[in-house]
Amino acid sequence: MKKLVSKILFLAFCCGAVSSAFAADTICFESRKGASEVTKHDIQPGLPNVKCSPKTGAVLWWGDPFEGTVPLGDMPLMGNILPGKAVVKPRSEKLAILPMCVTACHNGVTPPTLPKNKKPTPLPTMEGLLPDAKNLQHGRGGIWCLDCHHATQRNKLVDNYGDPISFDQPQLLCGKCHGDKLRDWRDGIHTKRIGEWATTGKKRWFVCTECHNPHNVQDGARNRGFPQIAPESPPQLPKGMKDAKHEHLPPVSH
Ligand code: HEC
Ligand code: HEC
Ligand code: HEC
Repeated sequence: MKKLVSKILFLAFCCGAVSSAFAADTICFESRKGASEVTKHDIQPGLPNVKCSPKTGAVLWWGDPFEGTVPLGDMPLMGNILPGKAVVKPRSEKLAILPMCVTACHNGVTPPTLPKNKKPTPLPTMEGLLPDAKNLQHGRGGIWCLDCHHATQRNKLVDNYGDPISFDQPQLLCGKCHGDKLRDWRDGIHTKRIGEWATTGKKRWFVCTECHNPHNVQDGARNRGFPQIAPESPPQLPKGMKDAKHEHLPPVSH
């Protein structure tokens, strides 16, 4: 049984990697590279769903900001947020391992026992699947898998009361420890939103895990946030300007 499981998982991984390598020019990422990929296609003739940066492979523009979105869902204790106007992209469809969490694994048979507490332990099988599990870069050693993942329902996250949370609502998980960020996220300060301009218009809200990798929020050795990326030059220079070399000069002193 164990052998079969690892074979299935290996296939799922290696096929994912091969297909994404071949589709490099039709697949681009929305926010977090490797975790928010979309496939380019036409919504109608001449109108693509996204325009991608040829340099970074990041989405620069959306033809339909609401494609593939669902309602935000309940936000307990945070009021009824613009009913029908706040939508998100479900995370679960991006998670390759998730469909197997309670079928091939954690199904009551493999592994036969559940961890007895939340203390860090080596997890050879998980480490093979999820290299971040070897050196969990979140909370500086203070938190572990079951602070976030439900102990018995492995296809769910867990809230402060031990109740399950959907992977599509990571804000409810992150918010239990980062309450200030959750409030800023709700207020549109710490997030990205695309859609209608009006304050009360319909918008797609980006959820925490579309930007942050929950297993490595500290970016390895840098130990803080995200790797810095070089900004791209504007797609078109203003009329009469031959190049943008002046941008490399030191700023004018005041
Ligand atoms: C800070 C909370 C947190 C901790 C701690 C944490 N996880 Fe996760 N984990 C998440 C979230 C949230 C997701 C969904 C990520 C996403 O949507 O991209 C996830 C996803 C996963 C997945 C599915 C990945 C996939 O691509 O399908 C696995 C497997 C997993 N975690 C295992 C672990 C293991 C093992 C540990 C402990 C070593 C751990 N997690 C620790 C929050 C956490
Ligand atoms: C069980 C509590 C807990 C949960 C749940 C949790 N975090 Fe954290 N997080 C922490 C702790 C503790 C730190 C370390 C704070 C420090 O060292 O100052 C941290 C640090 C961070 C950092 C900052 C890293 C840095 O130092 O620059 C980010 C970003 C972050 N978490 C994002 C998230 C996201 C996104 C989620 C949801 C997927 C989440 N956290 C869920 C406890 C948690
Ligand atoms: C659109 C992308 C995006 C979304 C969505 C997002 N964040 Fe962040 N977050 C960032 C960026 C960028 C930083 C700054 C990282 C740095 O300092 O390098 C950051 C920083 C943080 C930090 C560290 C702040 C500090 O004071 O050092 C925490 C904690 C955090 N985010 C939690 C969350 C939580 C919780 C959510 C969801 C409720 C969330 N983020 C949603 C992009 C995002």
